[in-house]
Amino acid sequence: MEKAELIWMNGKLVPWDEANVHVLSHGLHYGTGVFEGLRAYETEGGTAVFRHREHLERLVRSAQLYYLDLPYTVDELRSATHELIRRNGFTSCYIRPLAFRGYGEMGLYAQDAPIEMIVAVWEWGAYLGDDGKRNGVRAKVSSWRRISPQGLIPHAKASGQYLNSILAKTETARAGYDEAILLDERGLVCEGSGENIFLVRDGTLVTPPHTASILDGITRRSVIQIARDLGYTVVERDVARAELYLAEEVFLTGTAAELVPVREVDDHDLGEPGEITRHIQAKFEDAVCGRAEEYLEWLDVVEQPSKVTG
Ligand SMILES: Cc1ncc(COP(=O)(O)O)c(C=O)c1O
Repeated sequence: MEKAELIWMNGKLVPWDEANVHVLSHGLHYGTGVFEGLRAYETEGGTAVFRHREHLERLVRSAQLYYLDLPYTVDELRSATHELIRRNGFTSCYIRPLAFRGYGEMGLYAQDAPIEMIVAVWEWGAYLGDDGKRNGVRAKVSSWRRISPQGLIPHAKASGQYLNSILAKTETARAGYDEAILLDERGLVCEGSGENIFLVRDGTLVTPPHTASILDGITRRSVIQIARDLGYTVVERDVARAELYLAEEVFLTGTAAELVPVREVDDHDLGEPGEITRHIQAKFEDAVCGRAEEYLEWLDVVEQPSKVTG
């Protein structure tokens, strides 16, 4: 990864190479952390963070689900992120806030291990590649099932939970595919290893519901709204595996990947990215780049310090 100059760590901006933790940090051993992934885009109005508050609110909720009291508020984290982007001189970037149990106590009920927080920003291109965004990716259903609400919390974006996504991603990458699709514990379609999933069936958009162990993706929410505003019907319902092969179109949505067409699932050819996928993808790109008036409220423009005159 490409280094930036500064990282925000526990309230201070520190040089990238000095943002270090103790090897006995609790989160390193047990995965006790929650995080977010956001993107800031270059827009005509300045650098803007896409749905900043929604992401930070999801971070707070993830923390609550794991009984972690965050030492900073949403407003404090928002201002810190603005300053971090400004001081690193980015016009667009990926943003990674993370809260984790630090060094101080071991064991599984380590209430005295402090909660540390960082926000890092760096330049990160299309997660599944520019070619993937344009021409679609090859996906494979993983043999690993998505974490179940019987053992973990699919609604939380928690560090340790990502071992499940990593197993699925590793399996399918080693088999030569671009992305993994996970089924839920019932064998129904859930999501990609780091993206939500949509299908087009008889012209209707279909996406698995909250009860299918998905992460409540912010790109998913945005795409549902965009699709409805464009006049498409969107249905949240359970999806059978075979529907992935029978769909007219399939696409993935996520902050890192953005909106990516799927051109193949389990070696079933779905063809070139479809018209509906393209239509929504173009509108989503307009929205993140500030070219869609109706979605400007989704953009949190990074305030620049006012120029001193005279
Ligand atoms: C497992 C998983 N599902 C879905 C998503 C998509 O969520 P979002 O659109 O909020 O980035 C992500 C990415 O954060 C993810 O890690």
